[in-house]
Amino acid sequence: MTGIELRCADHDDRDAVAALIHASTNGWYAAHGKPAIFPGPPADCALIFDVYEALDPGRCLLAEDAVTRALLGSCFWHPRSTHVSLGIMNVAPVAFGRGVARRLLDAVVARAEERGLPVRLVSSAQNLDSFSLYNRAGFVPIAVFQDIAVPVPAAGLDGRPAAAAHVRPATADDVDTMAALELELLGIERRGDLAHLVANRERIWSARVLDAPAGGLRGFLCASDHPASAMLGPGCARDTAAAIALLAAELDARWRGRQPIVLAPAAQPDLLAWLYARGGRNVELHLAQVRGAASALRGVALPTFLPESA
Ligand SMILES: CC(C)(COP(=O)(O)OP(=O)(O)OC[C@H]1O[C@@H](n2cnc3c(N)ncnc32)[C@H](O)[C@@H]1OP(=O)(O)O)[C@@H](O)C(=O)NCCC(=O)NCCS
Repeated sequence: MTGIELRCADHDDRDAVAALIHASTNGWYAAHGKPAIFPGPPADCALIFDVYEALDPGRCLLAEDAVTRALLGSCFWHPRSTHVSLGIMNVAPVAFGRGVARRLLDAVVARAEERGLPVRLVSSAQNLDSFSLYNRAGFVPIAVFQDIAVPVPAAGLDGRPAAAAHVRPATADDVDTMAALELELLGIERRGDLAHLVANRERIWSARVLDAPAGGLRGFLCASDHPASAMLGPGCARDTAAAIALLAAELDARWRGRQPIVLAPAAQPDLLAWLYARGGRNVELHLAQVRGAASALRGVALPTFLPESA
């Protein structure tokens, strides 16, 4: 292979990036005997480009073959006041193992260092190529999350906790409080991302909150319902009971007869027991990783991959 050059993507790259994400991710999982992450057509993955372009215009980095201009890799980066978030990272299967991801990662790390910020991401624990990429670049796991597929009965969720009745849809007026809670519990600030999810321009998001009796919030939970991202999160809660109430309300309201994915903290046994009691099955493990300073996680984190959060 000839040299690698990096450039920022523009709108004309949208379909090629979607095809790359699809081929790269499904190709890696197929090569390791695992089912496709994106079972639908490549066009489904355009959602990722569209959402990140809406949140962070011009922050998709591409790696190209310097001679043929073939697209070899892509990576999105999201600078926020507290951190730079990285994801999703993809390399074309024909170019695996040739340093393409490391070039993209180094470029994002350099941008974070210019800003004096840590880099945060969520990476698969079963993908040693991914783990090694980040680990060799100085990333440290700070939490383990279990990807749990939760079957929701067509007739509605069994064992809905009483507190779920107090969960209500988030409005634009809640965004500041949601952002403050996330900063307090997880040490990350991303008000603009939360405002985007609450505004729901793509018509795939939900956002729910649970009020605290003394004012403020006990927690919030967003979710995306799309073929490329049928997941609960991002969200966070002060306590396990609030996290369960938020999950129960969302599962019962939007996912009857289906099996969305929840990224549940491995350090939350009561939450895991509740998910197992609903028939939840572990399908993968992910690690929240940080390069640089990270405050300790408090409460319950419910991350997702779109937008990538940790
Ligand atoms: C994960 C992925 C991005 C890696 O891309 P890549 O271009 O093949 O990675 P690189 O060639 O840059 O190699 C990464 C580093 O890991 C190292 N490495 C790989 N496997 C290793 C192992 N088992 N132990 C130690 N180091 C290892 C490589 O030597 C390299 O380190 P170096 O740059 O310091 O020499 C690629 O496999 C991919 O796109 N997979 C599908 C999508 C995906 O899983 N994305 C990540 C989502 S979490």
